Amino acid sequence: MDIRFDFSLVLEKNLRSGDGLTAAQLRKGLRRAEKAALAVARRHAGGEIGFPDLPFLEEEARGFSRGAARLRNRFTHLLVLGIGGSALGTKAVLEGIGGAGARKGLALTVADNVDPDAFFPLLRSHPMKTTAVVAISKSGGTSETNAQLALAIDALKKANGRSWKEHLILITDPEKGGFRRMADAEGIRSYSVPSNVGGRFSVLSAVGLFPLAAAGVSPEKLLRGARWMEGLFRGREPENNPVLLASAVYAHFLLANPKPVHVWMTYGQGLERLAEWWQQLWAESLGKLRPDGRPVGQTPARAVGVTDQHSQVQLYQDGPADKVYTFIRWMKGNFAMPGGRPLRGLFDAEFEGTIGALWNAGRPIVRIEIGARDEVHIGAFLHFWEWVTAVVGECAGIDPFDQPGVEEGKKITRALMGEKGASALRERFLRKMKNRAPAEIRVRGND
Ligand code: PA5
Repeated sequence: MDIRFDFSLVLEKNLRSGDGLTAAQLRKGLRRAEKAALAVARRHAGGEIGFPDLPFLEEEARGFSRGAARLRNRFTHLLVLGIGGSALGTKAVLEGIGGAGARKGLALTVADNVDPDAFFPLLRSHPMKTTAVVAISKSGGTSETNAQLALAIDALKKANGRSWKEHLILITDPEKGGFRRMADAEGIRSYSVPSNVGGRFSVLSAVGLFPLAAAGVSPEKLLRGARWMEGLFRGREPENNPVLLASAVYAHFLLANPKPVHVWMTYGQGLERLAEWWQQLWAESLGKLRPDGRPVGQTPARAVGVTDQHSQVQLYQDGPADKVYTFIRWMKGNFAMPGGRPLRGLFDAEFEGTIGALWNAGRPIVRIEIGARDEVHIGAFLHFWEWVTAVVGECAGIDPFDQPGVEEGKKITRALMGEKGASALRERFLRKMKNRAPAEIRVRGND
């Protein structure tokens, strides 16, 4: 295992722009992060939060591997239906290890949109006789996933008649929600997500591990990496603890010297999907109203090196000093053979060069290098960010584990779709739309 965290370019000693942390600020930040981590640990000990337990559920992971092996014997394709935390982790890990085909397993696709122009062609591209569908929803009541599932069931029935149920697996809450009721009532195979693990913290539960196992990714190794990170976090003193140091630094740029934007600039195939997973984690966990009504949050942005050097770096360099940067790369790519060397050399130089230029401009930069594109490293990396997000949220005095804003949107959508008992909400919303001050221009004509 090998992950390098470099916080030197957030230190004022090196930055000299007035935007860096002084030694005293770092000490204070570490003390605050330590206290916040204890508060999260207390919630965990009380059973309210479950993500720190996931790395230790090894027996469960072996069960996913066995179930996945059965799927591999019978099917060729796996279609995952889900959205947000029920989709992004699977996509991230799959791309992280090298994409579909990097391991021997089912051809895995994740459908996380209901745009008909995307969903129907995707559904039709699957040979339904040899496709297994895994529908994932923690709440079991998300409109998008419900709609996808209804269409997928139609397609499964058409292709397989009465045996359609053998093609379907549900992953959801152990007790509550529409998916759980459906699994129980219809006798459909299901896996549970621990009730104290929320969507965006659930990649290392059945949500990510089962479909990934079917695609040949090792759930055991993902958990091994996460356990390693958990051990580091629990075992190291603050000054040498990557989770606490990162939490202190990022909380500083959220609270003491607030930067409204956090850019992940990634250098390496597959890291972009990991950045998408992190975007949800960071945005939904930290974008909140504090108890006193003041908002807090940081817009997570992603940029891809080297492509976006020729698109966004000008802004980063000379534009407003309103961002903190995290540069991430694999230490070793998949193609480092002799013929590839000149390109690898250029790619590495661009990484260093862009950091160098932003450093010259006095921008705060964290740098993370991940040893290899494999399950153990990715498991550790995911778990690291889950802890950092939880601790930073606690530093901000908000609950990083809820998402009242998302729930609000879900409620209005369901009301607009005619949910029973929601007619008052629907009417209120439609009236508000109708009575809004008009500012619409629609241009039509012959082309
Ligand atoms: O992090 C979260 O809890 C959310 O973003 C959910 O993952 C997302 O809304 C999907 O919810 P569900 O898994 O209940 O369908």
